[in-house]
Amino acid sequence: MLVMLKTNRDELNREAARIIASAVRRDPSLTLGLATGSTTIGVYAELARMHREEDLDFSKVVTFNLDEYVGLPANHPQSFRFFMQQNLFRHINVNPTNIHIPDGMRRDNYDEYCAAYEDSIRQAGGIDLQILGIGRNGHIGFNEPASSLGSRTRLKALTRETLEDNRKFFASGEEMPKCAITVGIGTILEARRIVLLAAGSSKSKAVALAIEGPITASVTASALQLHADVTFIVNEEAAAELAQKDYYRRILELTAEFTPSRLW
Ligand code: F6R
Repeated sequence: MLVMLKTNRDELNREAARIIASAVRRDPSLTLGLATGSTTIGVYAELARMHREEDLDFSKVVTFNLDEYVGLPANHPQSFRFFMQQNLFRHINVNPTNIHIPDGMRRDNYDEYCAAYEDSIRQAGGIDLQILGIGRNGHIGFNEPASSLGSRTRLKALTRETLEDNRKFFASGEEMPKCAITVGIGTILEARRIVLLAAGSSKSKAVALAIEGPITASVTASALQLHADVTFIVNEEAAAELAQKDYYRRILELTAEFTPSRLW
């Protein structure tokens, strides 16, 4: 694991966008796993700027989103498809046929549909770089506490905490979806490289448990400890409860003279 501490959200956004952009430049037909949520907005804005000003080319990139609310049509302002369109896709030259997001309007045959989503990830050659946020309860994707650490894409009921956190995005009085389709922890762990972003004090407990706590289905992000190539990019507020903060801060300094290609 590599833990990168950033002083503020701007630095976090720039670092995450820099990692994504250099992966795309190295492999223009990269398969990207994408998350939604407030933490990703600044990162996507920076990628859009790089596309506009630095010719970052997404024409061959393939994308798979982690999750979608059940019951929201693609044009609903709170659907994750709408979020992706507004915050990233309409600002870059991604080919619409290369975009994959679970279908929130699916009414039946969820198992079949979710198995087909997994198949399309496999057919694309697997996820090269998976971007994640983290919930207050330690979820990644919508893999709520007590999700199997081997889980695959499936229908998942959302916890009260997640519903509370996301209610602010819905109009008052509007019914909020209680379920989502999400890729599983097993699916996420198969990505070749994983980058998790966390900002803000509401995430500090989840971040500390995910990085330094035991591996447990109660904090599904802790499963990332099993992955061979995972980077956490965390701002000061989200890093507040990490016991080894000082070590993470010094790690890049201490290893600088060896110029290793891998630190995790
Ligand atoms: C969304 C997703 C979630 C979010 C997490 C953090 O696609 O997979 O796991 O990444 O809930 O959300 P924010 O960034 O809004 O705090």
